[in-house]
Amino acid sequence: MAAPIEAAVRYEDADTDTSFARDVIAGLSARPKRLSPKYFYDETGAQLFDQITALPEYYLTRCELEILRERARDIAQFFPAPSALVEFGSGSSKKMRILLAAAPTIAAYVPVDISSQMLVQEAQELRRDHPRLAVLPVEADFTKPFTLPAAAAGMAHTGFFPGSTIGNFEPHEAGAFLRHAGRMLGRHATLIIGVDLVKEVSILHAAYNDQAGLTAKFNLNLLARINRELDGDFDLEAFNHRAFYNSEHHRIEMHLVSKVRQHVRAAGRTFDFAAEESIHTENSYKYTLEHFMTLARGAGWTPVAVWTDSGKNFSVHALAFQGR
Ligand code: AVI
Repeated sequence: MAAPIEAAVRYEDADTDTSFARDVIAGLSARPKRLSPKYFYDETGAQLFDQITALPEYYLTRCELEILRERARDIAQFFPAPSALVEFGSGSSKKMRILLAAAPTIAAYVPVDISSQMLVQEAQELRRDHPRLAVLPVEADFTKPFTLPAAAAGMAHTGFFPGSTIGNFEPHEAGAFLRHAGRMLGRHATLIIGVDLVKEVSILHAAYNDQAGLTAKFNLNLLARINRELDGDFDLEAFNHRAFYNSEHHRIEMHLVSKVRQHVRAAGRTFDFAAEESIHTENSYKYTLEHFMTLARGAGWTPVAVWTDSGKNFSVHALAFQGR
């Protein structure tokens, strides 16, 4: 039996507790107020997001899984033997398991995530199910440079960035991420990336304003997290979840809107809210196929294949790195 993985390789430069406090103070002092969506994902937020992915209105996960299942054999061609599959921000390993089943040439799996707990747990399960696969977790903020494990040297490197998480980056951040991913994976690397598509506004609106109210809970959990971790006194009843499509910028915007004029304490400071004042918590950019390919080309990648689901709601691109 393979030995359990005790820990992931760790690349962490900052104290996450103090950077959360710093970012909350800066964001709530800004005009307009804002908070980074990266703080959605504490344990409660990650669980809520998991439930969102199963909602009937949240088409993204369903459509991406359809593409991965239907096109697994085509995608498998981008894994020469032996390949290391580097997953940026591995949540659950459900999607990579589809690739693994179709591409026995994958010899190593390198999940890169900021949450070591999730990494170690998933790694243990994968090693149990695939004893011959080298599972090499890296605990890191994948938007910053990190080094690939030495055991993946000498293998072809294929990046995997599913879920349209790239849509939560501002376009300039998305370009910077693609450039840095290319440099890290190296020349001749491939990237398989999921990207949500521009579509009818009513479909987008429903996906971020679900009937069960889970997206609202997910959004409001950011305030609950500030209460828990930064000694805040946000009254969650005094804020509304608001999500709408901004057609000028091709993005869903999520906000938390104060119902009344109020003062809130958090991280040792007091913040004033006017009635109807909002905290901008997330952008989720939607791309056309062409627009995303142009972004990728600008970051040194050449689009080599693209697949969509039967409803043309979601896309998975294969990109080849030519840059340096
Ligand atoms: C993780 N990310 C791609 C999700 C999205 O759709 O932008 C996060 C999310 N926000 C609200 N619902 C889901």
